[in-house]
Amino acid sequence: MHWIVCPDEKAQARACAAIIAAQVLQKPSSALGFATGSSPLKTYAELIELKRQGVVSFSQVMTFNLDEYVGLPCGHPQSYCRFMWDNLFTGMDMREEQVHIPNGMAADLDAECRAYEQAIADAGGIDLQLLGIGHDGHIAFNEPGAEFSRFTHVETLNARTVEANKRFFESADDVPRTALSMGVGSIMRARRILLTAYGKDKAEIIREAFLGPVTPALSASILQFHSDCTIVLDREAAGSLG
Ligand code: F6R
Repeated sequence: MHWIVCPDEKAQARACAAIIAAQVLQKPSSALGFATGSSPLKTYAELIELKRQGVVSFSQVMTFNLDEYVGLPCGHPQSYCRFMWDNLFTGMDMREEQVHIPNGMAADLDAECRAYEQAIADAGGIDLQLLGIGHDGHIAFNEPGAEFSRFTHVETLNARTVEANKRFFESADDVPRTALSMGVGSIMRARRILLTAYGKDKAEIIREAFLGPVTPALSASILQFHSDCTIVLDREAAGSLG
């Protein structure tokens, strides 16, 4: 694993954007995996800035998002689809046909999960997957469990994740309890992984996930076995590494 510890959140976002931009400069038709949430937000703003400066173009990339709530259409303000268009895709001038996000409104969710895996395979696999990490160690929505999930699937969110994500909704009751999520296996098949986290409240889980044992009770820990995984942190998130 490669570690990059940045002085602050701004530098951390710039480092992530630079790594993603370099990937696209080297392979303009890259398949990029994206995450939602607070962790990548500033990275997306930096990517839009790099595009504005003419450093990078997403005109040939394909994108695959990690997850989507079940029951929220793309127009819903809290859907991950809407998040991505508002925070990245529109700013990068992307076309709808470049973008893949699991459809949480699909009538047959299992068929949607299978089709999503097929779309990733048809794109030749994901070149670079950006990840955040949940307070319980989840990546995508892979909550602590008895085994690592292999493929995109329907996941039930645990109470801690509902609690963490309620900040985006009017109340915890409005947070959907299920989501479509790429599996840990889907993530591990990406050729490169870029995980980013900032702030004190992520310091302990970063230590447990990457210096502790590899266990499905902490999904992110399996990234220790990935051959090309870079972790970009600010000083606070790196604070428990010793
Ligand atoms: C979101 C996702 C989640 C988040 C994680 C951290 O697409 O896959 O695993 O990365 O919940 O969320 P933040 O960044 O909001 O702390």
